Amino acid sequence: MTTPNPLTNTISGNRGLQIEEPLIFEMDAPGRSGVDLPAVPQHKERLGGLKRKSEVGLPGLGESQVVRHYTKLSQKNYAIDMSVYPLGSCTMKHNPRLNEKIARLNGIADLHPMQPVSTVQGALEVIDTLAHWLKTLTGMPAVAMSPAAGAHGELCGMLTIRAAHLAKGNARKRILVPESAHGTNPATAASIGYEVDPVPADDRGRVDLAAFKAKLGPDVAGTMITNPNTCGLFENDIIDIADAVHGAGGYFYCDGANFNAIVGRVRPGDLGVDAMHINLHKTFSTPHGGGGPGAGPVVLSEALAPYAPLPYVTHGKNGFDLVEQDDSGKAFGRLKGFHGQMGMFTRALSYILSHGADGLRQVSGDAVLNANYLQASLRGDLSAAFPGTCMHEALFNDDFLEGTNVTTLDFAKAMIDEGYHPMTMYFPLVVHGALLMEPTETESKTDLDRYIEVVQGLARRAKGGDATYFQGAPYHTPRRRLDETLAARQPILRWKPEQAKKAAE
Ligand SMILES: Cc1ncc(COP(=O)(O)O)c(C=O)c1O
Repeated sequence: MTTPNPLTNTISGNRGLQIEEPLIFEMDAPGRSGVDLPAVPQHKERLGGLKRKSEVGLPGLGESQVVRHYTKLSQKNYAIDMSVYPLGSCTMKHNPRLNEKIARLNGIADLHPMQPVSTVQGALEVIDTLAHWLKTLTGMPAVAMSPAAGAHGELCGMLTIRAAHLAKGNARKRILVPESAHGTNPATAASIGYEVDPVPADDRGRVDLAAFKAKLGPDVAGTMITNPNTCGLFENDIIDIADAVHGAGGYFYCDGANFNAIVGRVRPGDLGVDAMHINLHKTFSTPHGGGGPGAGPVVLSEALAPYAPLPYVTHGKNGFDLVEQDDSGKAFGRLKGFHGQMGMFTRALSYILSHGADGLRQVSGDAVLNANYLQASLRGDLSAAFPGTCMHEALFNDDFLEGTNVTTLDFAKAMIDEGYHPMTMYFPLVVHGALLMEPTETESKTDLDRYIEVVQGLARRAKGGDATYFQGAPYHTPRRRLDETLAARQPILRWKPEQAKKAAE
């Protein structure tokens, strides 16, 4: 680039260390290579007719260019290893390095899912021990380990529920889902053919029990309820809800994504839950799977256990065994080719064993304490969505921005210039202009205080009439306000060479 970038007024397009970085394909210099591979003599070629007839299309780059490219990209990332990551509902928590060390042990990292069972007894024991802990902590008799993420766990639980109803001769039609539900809940129910019937929230941010009961009927297959819910609140009527849905012949699917707020204190099995997924990344500190490859095991009640998917681990005569066939004919099928994410299982078990039962209880206590510290500290400057204390996340509405001409989005963008990842915005939908913050248990008071100071400062600046500043934020990023709607509707997921782009026009 030789003409100054109009935005930065620099030749390079960079601003200080905010380095512009092209796509790796745009850096292509044909003929350049990081490795010299020997030519294969013709008589040694074994591909015959399968031999590639055209170029692979990989960009030509030297090794140092590749290293720099990926190092620069890695520096563009905001990560929990850099600072507070207050994204509510996502639980961006510290992943202890001990977990990583254990998961990288050769005997674990080098496993292959097709190894004979006799050679992977230790791995099966890891799965079985983790399953034991999950069942014990939730008070549930069975667990399906193979789902690859929370949403995949929802699919597993709902397919189990449908299989149980089908065994009685009728899959039923409707699933009751609160309006405050995570988007994956209605999407899961709809994806397997259920009609989603929304249940309103009451003015306490909980499921409206009367409205819930009024919707029950013989065509209701069950309900999907998150507890603690997406407003960061415990559903106080949860036992009444469970009893009511059971009374109508339905099942209770609990979205257990927020189990990190109650682990070691509440056993969902005691509340009447029939199926519940656990996001291992949220409660047991495995890396985020981004919809997979992660792990979202699903604990199941006695009533649903026979319909659980294959495969599962059992104790056989000669040690552990992986059950691949279902003789009863009840299992609904498979969710994955194999048994699930071994890397995640190992990390989660490492986390559980290094904390023990008391340590896990303290984890949930600290998560709730930190969220309440945040809520109480910010209450004077922001507007809390509901009165009283919260569980693991603090929810604010946009009342505090009224009359300022600053929106929740503007406020969140200004956080970026302060060096923080914004909080979750506009979710849950039941709260106007929502700002949802989840500090997690691993943040120190010092780091929380710094974060609080920044949010307070911004709130005061917004109220002081500095709307133009907020509307232009962020200022210190390589890109500023992107067209999010266009990005969601017409994402460009693949680079194409100029000729291909032209040909497609
Ligand atoms: C309440 C709730 N349900 C479901 C999910 C989906 O989980 P996953 O992202 O692992 O698919 C999440 C994700 O954070 C969540 O917060």
